[in-house]
This record gives sequence, structure tokens and C-alpha cells, in this order.
Amino acid sequence: MSLISRRTFLQGSAALGGAFAFGAGMAARAGAAPDPQILTAQLIEAQIAPDGVTPKVMTYRLGDAASNGMPPVLRMRIGEPYAARLINRLDEPTTVHWHGLRIPNAMDGVPEMTQPYVYPGDPFDYVFTPPDAGTFWYHPHCNTLTQMGSGLTGIIVVENPDDPAYDAEIVLNLRDWRLGKGGAFIDPFKPRDAARGGTYGTVRTANWQQEPSYDAPAGGLVRLRIAATDVTRIYTVGLEGADAMVVALDANPVDKPFPLDRYDVGPGQRIDLVVRMPDSEGATVKLDNLRGSHPWTIASLRATGQSLKRDLRDVAPLSANPIAEADLSVATRVPIDLTATAEHKATPSICGSLGYTFWAINKVPWPGDTPDPIAPIEEMKLGKSYVLQISNRTPHAHPIHLHGMSFRILNSNKRTFLPPPTDTILLLPDEQAEIALVADNLGDWVFHCHIIEHQKTGMTGYFKVV
Ligand code: C2O
Ligand code: CU
Repeated sequence: MSLISRRTFLQGSAALGGAFAFGAGMAARAGAAPDPQILTAQLIEAQIAPDGVTPKVMTYRLGDAASNGMPPVLRMRIGEPYAARLINRLDEPTTVHWHGLRIPNAMDGVPEMTQPYVYPGDPFDYVFTPPDAGTFWYHPHCNTLTQMGSGLTGIIVVENPDDPAYDAEIVLNLRDWRLGKGGAFIDPFKPRDAARGGTYGTVRTANWQQEPSYDAPAGGLVRLRIAATDVTRIYTVGLEGADAMVVALDANPVDKPFPLDRYDVGPGQRIDLVVRMPDSEGATVKLDNLRGSHPWTIASLRATGQSLKRDLRDVAPLSANPIAEADLSVATRVPIDLTATAEHKATPSICGSLGYTFWAINKVPWPGDTPDPIAPIEEMKLGKSYVLQISNRTPHAHPIHLHGMSFRILNSNKRTFLPPPTDTILLLPDEQAEIALVADNLGDWVFHCHIIEHQKTGMTGYFKVV
């Protein structure tokens, strides 16, 4: 992999002084920017597999807080400025992307496109004000298959003080690891799988543990925030031993909470449940992955104490996030075809190429995490409405993610339930869907499959909002 020189970086960081001032100015409107949280990307050893400690796990640390190694849950508040200083203690460049947060382009964390690489030993300041509440997540946008696969995926909770109170809250970061015997990392992918549904990990975890169990008040209402941060796996979540309501999908509240039966959550997506715990102390609730022919338990909840006797029917809807509705009568239509490509050639890339091209958007395979030298899929005009007519012309599901703006699914040949606005649509095999958005955020916004092998072997593009 070839990287921009340190010298170029230093010039870039001088220019960045201006970007900081701009970011701080934006924040000042909503209140003074707080002191940044110190978020250190670093290498650790961690106990993930049962049969050995895994060396060279990558994680984020907040201050010197101890943990089992997992990146911390970052807590923010809707409409209030947030600041984090990334310090890179890895031995390769990195950045932080705030998945789902509609924040200024300069804070989006895509190297070469929205900011310079953050080289080992260097800091980078992120300052922004989250406009929406809900469950989000963060991860690098550089050499992502390795960096995310090695541990760099963490959850963000943006709180809304108007949200109903629950008896407990549990946050689950679902992901796998590709580890061999003894716990060491093995090759992050197999080309023949990258050309299909993606390469699966060998160890499945929630919060970096295999089938963890959490205590929760008996008879209580628990808000369960679940994020699928794996580079490959699509989960189909279901519950055993309790009833639950779905209250939000990809951070956005559903209009009316509905009972969870089973729901697909693809890489990058989130689901927020309110679980009504059983009344009897010691009773166990299981969160299962029902996908495939061998369902398994992701995590369990154990009822403790005397029943609080809550009623699921009391679960109130959350307040909607302020996402603009597209004006369909004047919207510009943009066809987007997702296809496999026959050109299996190695393509150079500045941020860790996998050395193959298997996928394309509108016939263009874009190999890297950065735009050069490909033109945008579409240049959008600030404030205008767009309908993206997406056709998945492959027999595989693709969780397609747009940075910086949220969209609404208008229709689909494969689904009847239309979720609230989202940043990631799990396109089913052969699905054709129309999604609508208002181009209300200036800059270059990446649009890619969140099965990272697909992203990095061609299923990536970007929109330019001017
Ligand atoms: Cu979750 Cu381009 O990212
Ligand atoms: Cu894909």
C-alpha cells in the first residue's frame, strides 16, 4: 500500500487549523465546544477466543479507563457539541468515521476525501454537534478490513433528554473475529468469498465476549441497543423468553413501536428494542441469531430482584429526529446499479487495497476508501431532493451505507414494511428499491456496501453536494 508522504500530511495539517476554527465556530452556535475526550487507537492483547490470548488487537481507549479492551461506548447528547481527540498509537495511519451522524464533511473521517490521514503518533481533533439521537457507531475509514476486523468498531449513544426513562439500558456491539487456533488473527478474507457474500469470522462475540449474560431488573423495561459492526455478518435477531418492542431502527424511531418477531440487521445497522423482563428472579431471556440453519444465542439477560411489573404497552414512541422529507414531485431521479464485475484485476489503492475487483456501482469499480480519481456518482445541489433508484443485480444482500445524510425507503419489490429514515439499507438479493433524500449536507459523501470486502473490491462510490 502506498501512502501520502508525511510531508504532504504536515502541509495538510497546517490547512486544517482553519478547519478546526470552522468546526469550533459551528459548535459555538449550540454552546461552547467541550474539552475533547482523548480517544487513543492502540494495539493490545485481548482474551477473545477461549483457547488463547489474541495479540495485535486494535482498540480505542478513552483516557486511561480500564475495560476488557473493547472500544468504549461514546455518549453524546442531541444538539450539544461533542469533541474527541484521536491519538494514533497504531503502527499505521487511521481516521475515525462517525457512522450515521449527520455532521459537517470535514469531520466525516474519510482520508484524502474529508481529512488527511492521521499518522502514528499524531492527533486529530473531531468537533461536531450530533443533530439526531439514537444508536450509532464509529470505526476507521482506512485499511478498514484489517482495522475493523482487528477490533476498531465501537458504539455511540446519542441521548435525547426527552426520551422515556427505562429501568435499564444494555448496549451490544455484535461482531466476529477471524482467529485461528491459539487465538491469533488469520487472513482477513478469502477472495472466493469476497466475490460472494463475504468471508465470515471464526469467533462470534457480543461486546467482545462469547454469549455474555447481563443482569436486568425482573419485570422491568430494558432498552437494548444493538449494533451490527461485523465486517460481513448479517444477523436476524429474535428473542426467547420475553416480549420486546422495536422502538428504533438505525437510530431513527419507528412511528409506532411494534413487537419483535425477527428482524434482519446487516453490517452497519442498528436495532433498538425495549424488552420486558420476566417477573421471576433468575429467569433468562435469550437474544438469538435466527439466520441460517443453525440459530445460536448472541447474549442473554437474567432477571434479578423483585418484579417491577412494568407493561410493554406503556412503551412510548421516541421523538423523531429532524430529518428533512424529500419533495418527490420535483426530485431528480438517479439510477444506481449494483453489479458483479468480471474484471478480477488488482487495482492500486491508497488505503489498503485487497488486490481484486469483484463489484461495481453503475459499472465503475472503485477499489479504495478514497475518491481519486473517480467522478461522483452524481453531483447534487444543496437543498434539492433526490430519488436513488437502486437495483441490486446480484444474488447477494448488500448493506448499502450513505455518509452524512439520511434517506427514506420509498418502495421496494421485496418488502412490505418500510422502516423509518436510515443511513444503511440492507438490499436483498435482486431487490429494487427507491430511496429519497434531501441533499442538505455540503461535501463529498461516500456511498458503499458495508460488507467491507465488497466495499474494498469495487462497491463504493460517492456523491458530491455543492
Ligand atoms: Cu460505517 Cu463508510 O462507513
Ligand atoms: Cu455488498
